[in-house]
Amino acid sequence: MKIGVIMGGISSEREVSLSSGREILNHINFNGYEGVEIILDTKTDIFEKVKGIDFALLALHGKYGEDGTVQSILDSLEIPYSGCGMLSSALCMDKDLTKTVLRNHGVRTAEWFVVKNAAEVTKEMVEALKYPVVVKPNRGGSSVATFICKSFDEVVEGVKEGLKVDSEVMVEEFIKGDEITVPILDGEALPTLIIKPVKGGFFDYQSKYEDGGAEEVIIEYEEALQSEINDLALTTFSALKCDVYARVDFIVRDGVPYLLEINTLPGMTRTSLFPKSAKGIGLSYQGLLDRIIQSSLK
Ligand code: DAL
Ligand code: MG
Repeated sequence: MKIGVIMGGISSEREVSLSSGREILNHINFNGYEGVEIILDTKTDIFEKVKGIDFALLALHGKYGEDGTVQSILDSLEIPYSGCGMLSSALCMDKDLTKTVLRNHGVRTAEWFVVKNAAEVTKEMVEALKYPVVVKPNRGGSSVATFICKSFDEVVEGVKEGLKVDSEVMVEEFIKGDEITVPILDGEALPTLIIKPVKGGFFDYQSKYEDGGAEEVIIEYEEALQSEINDLALTTFSALKCDVYARVDFIVRDGVPYLLEINTLPGMTRTSLFPKSAKGIGLSYQGLLDRIIQSSLK
């Protein structure tokens, strides 16, 4: 079976996607799977490059890849692909819509607002969230152009930076607590990982992808809290109509989990969280790929 490993793309997470894709390619030739490297460099080359593959294993992250556009092209070409469909991919890429939907499902999330230009932000709007606040692209990933801002001037600067990668920027209440993530696979919550950036601060781009940039370890909270976290992650997954797999990120402050976001094409690099958690239930990198492919084909 020819598995097109699709990577690259035109988002701010291109380099991360290439790392995910290469790691997948290093493991994919087993079980009758034959990996085909497909690197996307433009919006349209996908139409040519997927010819002849039996299945698209998506290693794309961010805009034009994780946001439903590639999924809808593959739907039209009748090529089966990994993970979530077009609608949930688009929904989960938009943090504003994700939070709005989840709030309606009783999932706690930090207060926020979204702007389309820096002039829209007023001191009153930011003060209502209390400093510091987090400023990030509404449809970004990997903490690209994400800032923790302690003053109004920093917020305005952060919004301007965010607008370089997206047309909408989110300003969000900063919740200080444990940064955790819950991978979901086939309707099951895998072990929770807690993230500790080695140099302190938050889990930024550098600590995400540098060897030794962060320590990510499996954590099991006391029973009631852990089961609340797992339930919230599963509610998030189903409320947003996800399929096969995704990774749900939270901050836990004083025993209370706040949803950060859900990643429908979570990183699969050498240092990524999903494969690390899967190992915790004895699932190897190849075992995980096999589950993702087989479940996506059902
Ligand atoms: N957006 C990155 C790839 C992740 O969530 O793992
Ligand atoms: Mg993300």
